[in-house]
Amino acid sequence: MNKKLNIAVVGATGMVGRTFLKVLEEKQLPVENYYLFASKRSAGTKLTFMGKEYTIEELTENSFDRGIDIALFSAGGSTSEKFAPIAASKGCIVIDNSSAWRMDENVPLVVPEVNPEDIKWNKGIIANPNCSTIQAVVALKPLDDKYKIKRVVYSTYQAVSGAGMGGWNDLENGLKGEAPKKFPYPIAGNCLPHIDVFLPDGYTKEEVKMINETRKILGKPDLRVTATTVRVPVFNSHSESINVEFENSFDMKELREVLSTAPGVVVQDDIENNVYPMAINATGTDETYVGRIRRDDSVENGINIWVVADNIRKGAASNAIQIAEKLIEYMNNND
Ligand code: A2P
Repeated sequence: MNKKLNIAVVGATGMVGRTFLKVLEEKQLPVENYYLFASKRSAGTKLTFMGKEYTIEELTENSFDRGIDIALFSAGGSTSEKFAPIAASKGCIVIDNSSAWRMDENVPLVVPEVNPEDIKWNKGIIANPNCSTIQAVVALKPLDDKYKIKRVVYSTYQAVSGAGMGGWNDLENGLKGEAPKKFPYPIAGNCLPHIDVFLPDGYTKEEVKMINETRKILGKPDLRVTATTVRVPVFNSHSESINVEFENSFDMKELREVLSTAPGVVVQDDIENNVYPMAINATGTDETYVGRIRRDDSVENGINIWVVADNIRKGAASNAIQIAEKLIEYMNNND
């Protein structure tokens, strides 16, 4: 087909929405028109994008009545719940960053390095996974292909940008001694083992998202996986300690090689020179950094790894735009 597309960004004024615009400027997709939407509060706001002035429009039920091909949504779960089906009914394909549709069996949940083919069975909505899940599965997929993962234990150290502008402001203002508005306690100088709401079984919704989404993306519904997710006083980029147990035995040298050659992965692991992944280095990039790769001798076939990525780019905006790029490729090949 190779026609130029119309693309909408929903939530264009938000933390992820603004990064959508930045990444779109870097990528230069084959686009005819862009449409930028947010809530009534920002309607009429002007911003410069692709060297042109754009006016933010209020998102309404009629917003998609003009031949929009792809819509990138990051405006919260309730906005996606209501407006993604409306957009899809008008022939638009929604790439949704919220958690609203991720576990719907009619909606593919996609990380392009891991399961790009799932894009092909979309019925109008494609879900972008949770930020902490995306970087984890980029590292886990090549290991699963080679050694068959049996069990995963996640412990996360998540940046405040994952909680949107409100989270960012709480850390910035908290460092000046102000009380928090977004989080229940100060985040400056603190760690909160509490991301999203608590569920009756004692886990947080963030932890359950990581568990369920990992299973869905890897196509392993019975994978044994558990998680503890923690908000830390870091502005941007999530860090994760991941303990992995395999069915098969492995050679450490070969395992490092598997990670080094995996798509989207950069191994940073030279402890003699204090080289390991760090949030401050991952920020502004789209790669997933893996280091501290070492055998876990407490089980038969286990390792520990430290995985870091920019949660707003790879964990949200860039992953969604990579999905859009793949989708356009499939559309052009009539797949
Ligand atoms: P607005 O700026 O008008 O409130 P963040 O997660 O960084 O807080 O960003 C949330 C994004 O979602 C913002 O762009 C916000 O727009 C947008 N948004 C929130 N509620 C709605 C809604 N009902 N309709 C459209 N956009 C919304």
